[in-house]
Amino acid sequence: MCGIVGYIGKNEKKQIILNGLKELEYRGYDSAGMAVMKDGELSFFKAVGKLENLAHKCHDFLSEGEGLAIGHTRWATHGKPNEINAHPHLGEYSCVIHNGIIENYKELKDKLLKENIEFLSQTDTEIIVKLFEFYAQKMDLFNAFKKSIEELKGAFAILLISKKDENKVFFAKNGAPLIVGKNSQKEFWFASADAPLIGFCDEVIYLEDLSLGYASKDELVIYENGILKNNTFVKLNNDKSYAQKDGFRFFMEKEIYEQSRVLNEVLMGRIKGDEVVFDELENENLTAIDEITLCACGTSYHAALVGMYLLERVAKIKARVEIASEFRYRKALIKKDSLFIVISQSGETADTLEALKIAKAEGAKTFAICNVDNSSIVRLAHLSLLTRAGIEKGVASTKAFATQVLTLWMFAIFIAQKKALNVNEEIKALLHTPSCVVVKQILHDKIHRLSKRYLDGHGFFYIGRDVFYPLALEGALKLKELSYLHAEGYPAGEMKHGPIALVDSKLYTIALMPENLLYEKTKSNVEELIARDSTLLSISPLDFDLSDDFIKTSKQNHFMCEFFEMMLITQLLAMEISIRLGNDVDMPRNLAKSVTVE
Ligand code: G6P
Repeated sequence: MCGIVGYIGKNEKKQIILNGLKELEYRGYDSAGMAVMKDGELSFFKAVGKLENLAHKCHDFLSEGEGLAIGHTRWATHGKPNEINAHPHLGEYSCVIHNGIIENYKELKDKLLKENIEFLSQTDTEIIVKLFEFYAQKMDLFNAFKKSIEELKGAFAILLISKKDENKVFFAKNGAPLIVGKNSQKEFWFASADAPLIGFCDEVIYLEDLSLGYASKDELVIYENGILKNNTFVKLNNDKSYAQKDGFRFFMEKEIYEQSRVLNEVLMGRIKGDEVVFDELENENLTAIDEITLCACGTSYHAALVGMYLLERVAKIKARVEIASEFRYRKALIKKDSLFIVISQSGETADTLEALKIAKAEGAKTFAICNVDNSSIVRLAHLSLLTRAGIEKGVASTKAFATQVLTLWMFAIFIAQKKALNVNEEIKALLHTPSCVVVKQILHDKIHRLSKRYLDGHGFFYIGRDVFYPLALEGALKLKELSYLHAEGYPAGEMKHGPIALVDSKLYTIALMPENLLYEKTKSNVEELIARDSTLLSISPLDFDLSDDFIKTSKQNHFMCEFFEMMLITQLLAMEISIRLGNDVDMPRNLAKSVTVE
């Protein structure tokens, strides 16, 4: 899950690549590199760590005039994040960048080692350029590239350039995203996501799996599954407003503050009178479905868990949830007439994508709830609903989660309506949700003040019941991701079956205590922890004198309104703790926004 950028043209190539990589840095920031070809000369630079290190390294390098360039930002999969393992990887006269994983790289490496070909790095990527140059001894460059790609197993988006044909960029795509862009000067660009192309390209081609080809100044040749394609470009949406922080300290903070607006956008055009309307699903017979499987990773998995509670409670449909990385290998039974929902912010998560392929092959009806149109997951699923969160740049997901939960709730209501169940109270609450996530300054200030008391300890337990259990999981995940402190989400009623043994004054409990769902039950569980001297931060609309710290939420009539307000509080708390600890809020260590590897 790295980031890739490429460019063919006469403008300053170094800056184009650096600017493009900046847009993708959230995908991985272990190291970065670029290669520039001009007048038959191949120059390359690599640096460990963030992009600014690469920028520093090539500070004095200029690359104006006709030529080409490729650049890469890395999230390490094979081999340590050092300079040797950074992309581009070099052969004798060519170099390559790659996003994904070459699963059979060991076999291929052994084969090349027998031919006395030497390797410098520990990466899977290096075999691509070595294989290419091996075949290029016997055939022309494009056929050598094609033959190399045909031998690769796994997921990849690849750009390769060679001094032997200084005008061409060779590219290939399978299982990892790759886009070809074109600007008004008819120059070609490449990127692994839209963001680096916005503002620079007017039209794009989203390459399909099993595509490969080459591009030069005047030519773009694409083969899909071995067949020559017509180059059909589509217009690129040129909205770059997301790229600014708008005065906020971090993208994450901006995205938390945006949640009210984006929740309104989720609702927009989808509530008519007192009904939820999804035009995309209008012709589907969803009432015939008697079982739903929801499948996802990370934060999206937590949204799926909330979806399960809501589908059973509101739509009266049997629902279960699967972690995608587990599902794909556990030979799960999928009923042919069941609905298989995948949830993904990026639409590119490798495990979720693979789970979707499996469910589709087993004959399930597949349905994607996703934030990125044209993503691999959206393109593969039979049906899809977009979550309309806009581009999320903070690596720790916030507004994407909020929109996923709202969309799932609306979907549950949509099915309930089709089954003629009464959903009047749900609709009223639904319309009220955007106001529950407006950030009030007084609340943010209070959380900032409280955060100083939660910078140590030997662990955090976020606890809740029903939908507040997945919210507890998500609250704990946010804290882990941002603060690097150990935190767990737990069902409040389950603490007594083991974790209670950990309780002492240095164990922090964050209790989610909504008024409208199992308040008394949760309260009893919390009291059991207080009796053992846990330090308690309770979040509730009802005063709770036993708390060490207390955040009072608003009075609501529906538990989902309480859910969204508490979600906001857990997000702000994790962010404020992280800021106090001096961590990188937008790009926490070891993480990446979009995980396109297994
Ligand atoms: C990564 C991100 C998480 C995200 C997960 C699933 O681990 O860091 O924030 O929840 O992938 O991503 P998806 O794009 O499928 O929702």
